[in-house]
Amino acid sequence: MKIKLTIDGQKIQTEAGKTILDVAKEAGIHIPILCHHPLLPPEGACRICLVEIERQRSLQPSCTFPATDGLVVHTRSPKVFEARKFVLEMLLSDHPNDCMTCDTTGNCLLQDLIYEYGVKPDTYPGLRHQYPIDDPNPFIQVDRNKCILCTRCVRACSYVNGVDAISVVYRGFSARIAFGADSFMEESPCEFCGSCVEVCPTAALYPKLSIGQGRLWQTEKVNTICSYCGVGCQITLEVKDNKIIRVDSGWQGPANHGWTCVKGRFGYDYVHHPDRLKKPRVRQYLLEGTPRKGERGEWVEVDWDTALSITSQKLSEIKNKHGSNSIGILASAKCTNEENYLMNKFARQVVGTNNIDHCARL
Ligand code: SF4
Ligand code: SF4
Ligand code: SF4
Ligand code: FES
Repeated sequence: MKIKLTIDGQKIQTEAGKTILDVAKEAGIHIPILCHHPLLPPEGACRICLVEIERQRSLQPSCTFPATDGLVVHTRSPKVFEARKFVLEMLLSDHPNDCMTCDTTGNCLLQDLIYEYGVKPDTYPGLRHQYPIDDPNPFIQVDRNKCILCTRCVRACSYVNGVDAISVVYRGFSARIAFGADSFMEESPCEFCGSCVEVCPTAALYPKLSIGQGRLWQTEKVNTICSYCGVGCQITLEVKDNKIIRVDSGWQGPANHGWTCVKGRFGYDYVHHPDRLKKPRVRQYLLEGTPRKGERGEWVEVDWDTALSITSQKLSEIKNKHGSNSIGILASAKCTNEENYLMNKFARQVVGTNNIDHCARL
């Protein structure tokens, strides 16, 4: 069903069933958000997206308010500006405000809004939390001092990962995020998928491996496919000085829509590990052509032509001596579909055997 409404004087026709925030976004009208995330169910927790709707007694959160026929909405009135500024002032009244040393600087929704609305840090001085930053898990730093209780992490954990490892405990000034039965992350049902880190709008949840490694604007972004398995999750590598310092979600990835497992998100340090093999290796005796009895010999680095010609020669010898079916081939879920297809062709048409299988079936 089509509806017509007016936002900031712009007459808009759209389909029913959307929120004011959705319609404004489609029309190119910017409304700030903090607790809202386009891939999570709306919560209406932070009130930064308040708008003025004619014939409504109070300001309404645009991320939850349904767009209906005939609405007249103002997103930039002085009343709206004051309300949003007040929300930010209240958030800053219990926030460390250490943007200069914070890892999320330049990639923080709160910081951007504080700048945009010209908020001063000490408008409401008073009690501030001093939470310890002591969660011992290897992947995620938990800094509740920077948490704005937007519950994005709670919803990501529940709706995306289906784990429900995070919740908000207590009420009022004592409210804070907690893991499991208010324990450390490792002792909760957490699977360290990192979805909560990805959606956190501040540095309250931050990857430990990335601390102090570089700011967002200092990195080159490389879109790629995670190499750990065959699902094909899209990820974005943040690279600084030729080194991966963070892995972000590839929101457009058709296989994962931005979500990853623990390996894809945090298991990238192998790329720079000094023990990583970068060239093929063969046993020394294979280069000499004469196997020594009982001796396996040292591994020697060779170029690809040498390694492939030895492999092909040995496979031909086995085939000639024992027949094609004496050879079996294992392909890998870590390869692309195209590579596995070629391996299938190699087994059936070059070697002449149907003995081909795939590690994911073992
Ligand atoms: S979380 Fe954001 S606002 Fe808070 S200190 Fe870090 S950059 Fe600044
Ligand atoms: S890492 Fe994943 S499983 Fe663990 S708390 Fe965050 S969203 Fe939940
Ligand atoms: S940890 Fe981050 S995502 Fe979770 S409630 Fe706090 S600010 Fe929001
Ligand atoms: S973004 Fe709408 S209430 Fe938080």
